[in-house]
Amino acid sequence: RTVYVNGEYLPEHEATVSIFDRGFLMADGVYEVTSVLDGKLIDFDGHYARLERSLGELDMANPTTHEDLLEVHRELVRANGIEEGMVYLQVTRGNPGDRDFAFPPEDTAQTLVLFTQSKPGLANSPAAKTGIKVISIEDQRWARRDIKTVQLLAPSLGKMAAKRAGADDAWMVEDGHVTEGTSNNAYIVKDGAIITRGLSNDILHGITRAAVLRFAAEAQMQVVERLFTIDEAKEADEAFVTSASTFVMPVVSIDGAAIGTGEPGPVAKRLREIYLEESM
Ligand code: PDD
Repeated sequence: RTVYVNGEYLPEHEATVSIFDRGFLMADGVYEVTSVLDGKLIDFDGHYARLERSLGELDMANPTTHEDLLEVHRELVRANGIEEGMVYLQVTRGNPGDRDFAFPPEDTAQTLVLFTQSKPGLANSPAAKTGIKVISIEDQRWARRDIKTVQLLAPSLGKMAAKRAGADDAWMVEDGHVTEGTSNNAYIVKDGAIITRGLSNDILHGITRAAVLRFAAEAQMQVVERLFTIDEAKEADEAFVTSASTFVMPVVSIDGAAIGTGEPGPVAKRLREIYLEESM
């Protein structure tokens, strides 16, 4: 793979970052994942806007521009021949040359890293046909989940708990209500209404979420943004998740209880179709 590190395109084995990098020592960094379909970037502008917001919330400078970053994304997609997959991007507060909790001087060079992940068959994923199984877990993350930081240990532990339980992913619960999936936004469908938690600091403001809710409204589907519980989800007609890496993915069971018929539901299937059609 050809990857990008601080202005240079390099073979991945030649790309290095300092051991003092604050991303490595303190998870002092933010990231974005942009999907690629048919060799084209999906919703780059949305991901760039969220990157700017994440940086701003953490008082981190923006080491790049919309135009330059788009060019790097396109060049990596081209150089690596990505038809379907993702571009990962990470910005950290850089390498102060030592370990210190306080931020380094503002002129410290930041670290900007990008790489691609090829996922042939992403749009036609077999999981989208069978749906995925989720378990519920306590949400153990910090209070600013709206910032897309690289502190991913809690989601990672959640994913492993799901795998150990024979499931695919975990829905996280706080004060009795579902926040989101380990790396996706969570939805249920009841009597035709699409129900998902409203935006706040408690969840990531998904770029796929914004697009899917827009398409749903355009298709005259009812959307309700409110809290919901795992018990309510188990009684729902359907459930699904959205993210840049899964688009719209049906959820067919929660904690071993089948949702609806136990098969991907019509609303999730339709939204997935619309999303892929509109994005391609
Ligand atoms: N995850 N919620 C969380 C906690 C996420 O990590 C993500 C994205 C989403 C969905 O956001 P979007 O639709 O903008 O991808 C919601 C990415 C894909 C990841 O960590 O790989």
